[in-house]
Amino acid sequence: MSQTLAADDPAAPGTRERVFSGIQPSGASHLGNYLGAQANYVALQDRYDAIYAIVDLHALTTVHDGETLRRLSHEMVLDLLAVGLDPQRCSLIRQSDVPEHAELAWIFNTCVPVAWAERNPTYKEARDEGKENSVGLLDYPVLQAADIVLYKASRVPVGKDQAAHLEFSREVVRAFNRRYAPVFPEPQPVYTEAPVVLGIDGVRKMSKSAGNTIPIFAEPDEIRRLVMSMVTDPLRIKRTDPGRPEVCNVCQLHRFFGADYLQIQDGERTARTGCVETKQLLAERIIEFFRPMRERRAELAADGAVVEETLAAGADAVRPIVDATMAEVRDAVGIGPRRVA
Ligand code: AMP
Ligand code: TRP
Repeated sequence: MSQTLAADDPAAPGTRERVFSGIQPSGASHLGNYLGAQANYVALQDRYDAIYAIVDLHALTTVHDGETLRRLSHEMVLDLLAVGLDPQRCSLIRQSDVPEHAELAWIFNTCVPVAWAERNPTYKEARDEGKENSVGLLDYPVLQAADIVLYKASRVPVGKDQAAHLEFSREVVRAFNRRYAPVFPEPQPVYTEAPVVLGIDGVRKMSKSAGNTIPIFAEPDEIRRLVMSMVTDPLRIKRTDPGRPEVCNVCQLHRFFGADYLQIQDGERTARTGCVETKQLLAERIIEFFRPMRERRAELAADGAVVEETLAAGADAVRPIVDATMAEVRDAVGIGPRRVA
């Protein structure tokens, strides 16, 4: 079961359920991140007790240079502040600042059959393509489950590409609860209206690792260049050919950047407009949409201390929650000193 929440949806009244999400610092934030997840991070911070993590331990599966990872983590905090996360209204943490993420993942490892872990599509893909394939990659979804339930979060704003990972998290929770005690709630995803956003190739999911992204904070000229290079309807060869907006990534993205997207799509379908002008319009709209955030990001980036201050405050804020959960877990599984009642 999942839920779609629009930004203007009324709050869950009275209760402050907990929301958690994580984002990998493996590259610059892109349109898929924003439309699929970050827009909801911002929308949910007022209505829930929200915790967002830069999941640098996950990024170790793909980023193998220490300086680079540290820089990307820093940049991701700036991105999240710039899109509208307010440290007064949510906690922003760096996963590695809370070592219990890894501790809980280990405990979960002992509850998860190898066969479950081997169903992980990212792992299977890497294996089938003969790419580097670490134990960490196989175990990635177990760490993701630990991230979420360390805070007993019940709702997880993520893009629709994460549906399988969330399903897996629920299975992990059930396995733990069954073996020991009903410690954890089963987390549910919260989706935006956006589908899985495709990359500039129009075929694969937009993703940092595929190198097919439109970074939301790129310079305007770079955004123009990338949008102009987007693949549209491959069957629309001549300007006079009618287009198929339902298969055209450019037409699909227009949905999120203006109320007139149906007219735009109609223009393509009837060949009233050409791909070039539709792309130009999209590029300008993306640039305008993110302009205030880009300006805010530049201001934040000029402040040498804001990132580490934000992360230190986040780590302090979540500490009591982490201690409480881990005391329960350690008691249940029988590790560490027995707590004095
Ligand atoms: P990642 O960059 O893989 O750490 O993803 C961070 C968040 O962005 C997750 O919630 C993803 O589900 C979401 N996301 C990443 N790529 C896409 C995409 N192409 N379309 C929709 N959501 C995405
Ligand atoms: N796997 C997620 C992604 O690639 C990132 C992630 C790690 C995450 N831990 C999480 C997302 C916990 C939500 C909750 O997008």
